[in-house]
Amino acid sequence: MFYTERINEAMIKDFDKLTYREFRPLLNKVGSEASVIAFGALSYPAQPIGLILGEVRKDGYMQIHTIFIKPKYRRLGVATALLKDMEQAAGTNKCHGIYLGFIHDNPFHEIFNKLLRKCSWDLPAETDMLLYTLNMESLVEEDAPLFTLMELPGGFTVSSWQELSKEEFAKIKKGHGIWYPELTSPFLEEKRVDPLNSVFLRDEEKQIIGWTITHRLDSETMLYRNVFVKEEYRSMGYAMLLMGNAIWRQYDRGIYKLMFCVHVKNKSMTKIISRFMKPLNYTVKNKLRFSKSFL
Ligand SMILES: CC(C)(COP(=O)(O)OP(=O)(O)OC[C@H]1O[C@@H](n2cnc3c(N)ncnc32)[C@H](O)[C@@H]1OP(=O)(O)O)[C@@H](O)C(=O)NCCC(=O)NCCS
Repeated sequence: MFYTERINEAMIKDFDKLTYREFRPLLNKVGSEASVIAFGALSYPAQPIGLILGEVRKDGYMQIHTIFIKPKYRRLGVATALLKDMEQAAGTNKCHGIYLGFIHDNPFHEIFNKLLRKCSWDLPAETDMLLYTLNMESLVEEDAPLFTLMELPGGFTVSSWQELSKEEFAKIKKGHGIWYPELTSPFLEEKRVDPLNSVFLRDEEKQIIGWTITHRLDSETMLYRNVFVKEEYRSMGYAMLLMGNAIWRQYDRGIYKLMFCVHVKNKSMTKIISRFMKPLNYTVKNKLRFSKSFL
């Protein structure tokens, strides 16, 4: 027998072992950030046996970051109960739907398929992102011509996030929805931005015309979250220039692994990355999106 409860600040430490280390900072925001929601399952008397952690995203959807049940308590309906709690919380928060990201080769893929079918989610899952992974530890420069830095046109400059002025940040913020869409905003998940590795490109009039935003995933991996170039400057190689600049910055810091996370619909980006990666030893995985729409 078990019961479920919404997790509050005082309960976090009892449940944090039921998730990976990478999700613990988010779990710690329960109670202080209304968008972060978690439910725990407990066996009598009050032993934590399962956890689900979700977040109401700016796009109005609830994202489930992780769900985990202790092995001894599986196949008893615990995950089903926690999913129901989270669906209800999503409804209370007026979300348009709920989703869960999943890498296709995860050993639990088939089990999640069954679990979510039973909970009436919209199956099959869709591939929404492609995850490219590369290790530069044994990189031979001649094998990677596209990594060679393109020369900047006269008057153009590149600066890191750390070097950008307050006025420049304010100007970029004003352009939101005008010259760049929400999906490419440099301020998405701003707290995770690596300020030394994320770079901005200025034209000869000192206007910001593009960026590459990276997040440090762990001590050896940088995630390329977002590459953007203003419309009138596209197809001129500036996206490659920005990526090349950021890649050499991480290489010089001894951070050799990199991941690109690209939306499948972003055809120009998948093309650039495939060209970039072609001569190198890399892997590509599909990130699936399991979802249930409330609309
Ligand atoms: C996947 C997981 C959450 C399922 O939890 P659970 O409490 O056992 O799930 P439920 O008891 O609610 O199962 C509901 C349905 O899912 C399916 N299911 C669950 N476990 C299954 C299994 N081992 N084999 C086949 N189907 C399974 C069944 O259809 C089941 O219904 P049934 O028991 O009536 O046949 C659990 O196995 C788990 O925590 N695995 C580790 C996941 C992980 O690594 N999470 C971290 C990253 S997200």
